[in-house]
Amino acid sequence: MILVTGGTGLVGSHLLYELAKRGCCVRALKRDGSNTDLVRRLFYWYDPDKGEDLFEDIQWVEGDLNDLVSLQEAMQGVKQIYHCAAMVSFLPEDRELMKKINVEGTANLVNVAMMNDIEKFCHCSSVAALGSPQKGRAVDEGLTWKSSKKNSWYAITKYGSEREVWRASEEGLPVVIVNPTVVIGPGDPARSSAQLYQSVKNGMKFYTSGVTGFVDARDVATVMVDLQESEVVNERFVLTSENLSYRDLFTLFAHYSGAKPPKYRAGRFLSEMAWRLELSRSFITGQKPLLSKETARNANIKRYFSNEKIKKALDIEFRPIEEAARNTSRFFNKYPVYLSPDFRMPS
Ligand SMILES: NC(=O)c1ccc[n+]([C@@H]2O[C@H](COP(=O)([O-])OP(=O)(O)OC[C@H]3O[C@@H](n4cnc5c(N)ncnc54)[C@H](OP(=O)(O)O)[C@@H]3O)[C@@H](O)[C@H]2O)c1
Repeated sequence: MILVTGGTGLVGSHLLYELAKRGCCVRALKRDGSNTDLVRRLFYWYDPDKGEDLFEDIQWVEGDLNDLVSLQEAMQGVKQIYHCAAMVSFLPEDRELMKKINVEGTANLVNVAMMNDIEKFCHCSSVAALGSPQKGRAVDEGLTWKSSKKNSWYAITKYGSEREVWRASEEGLPVVIVNPTVVIGPGDPARSSAQLYQSVKNGMKFYTSGVTGFVDARDVATVMVDLQESEVVNERFVLTSENLSYRDLFTLFAHYSGAKPPKYRAGRFLSEMAWRLELSRSFITGQKPLLSKETARNANIKRYFSNEKIKKALDIEFRPIEEAARNTSRFFNKYPVYLSPDFRMPS
């Protein structure tokens, strides 16, 4: 039996599909009230003939990373774990909760995994956990984390989370870690990187000058399973397909969604103004700001990522991001209900 955390999320749902497709016996941890509707749709999207049956084969169990008893129960009879659950947020008010889920939650999971003699643990980390490179250097697995005011709180908690996994590996748990760049694929448009498509479809007018790596959610899932099934242990791998500017990505999304591509460049000054204005709007309306100080600053940074190590280890070809954008767009064209501004996932 395999246990997956975060199965209702963008990465986790693609991973569940990959495992189900390969005929694995899978248990998925979900929180009380979390919704599996989009996962079911996704299975059907990727396989209209067998998707429903594959989804029905998943054994959903209720639990929470911060509830040790539920983790112990979920691990009964489990041999392997994939850890995709985390909180992805750049809002200051989410900091404490994000630390509790990402760092303490991961510590809980690896501790219970060690008590249950889990054979292999695959951790979904992030390139955010690698830290900032020196100018002109492409980011790879060899980068050493340095404390800096420029690190986002999300990055700090992902670094803390990865450290817990390395600690467990030193204590005897065989682990493999993936560090994806920005993941592109169909997912809940109200959260994580799936929000990017929604913003462009809604007619976003501005783009920023930043560059970053992007990777298709299907490739992240395939690589995680291939690594877990391989002899590789106690290594980490950057997962990325292409380095693109945000403008390039937004233009692809606009092309496939029928929206107009963002026209105006938001440089550093405009971005600084924008997050402050968003903050004021959120104080007045009580709604979450659409842009935070951290997202605004990150969006203007140029970072390049290397996938040499994983390509050597697995001989994999990553899908072009154009294909990831097309897949995302075709999914939402078929199920536009998820993009409605008033739509909330029913629980
Ligand atoms: N998306 C990206 O661009 C990207 C890039 C690099 C790395 N990553 C990493 O990939 C992983 C998955 O990200 P994602 O984009 O799939 O995020 P997501 O769509 O926001 O999904 C997060 C998942 O974590 C679950 N979760 C949150 N708190 C939990 C808790 N306390 N206990 C149990 N489950 C909990 C959520 O369950 P509910 O349904 O109950 O909320 C959901 O299934 C994360 O570790 C993230 O850091 C993502």
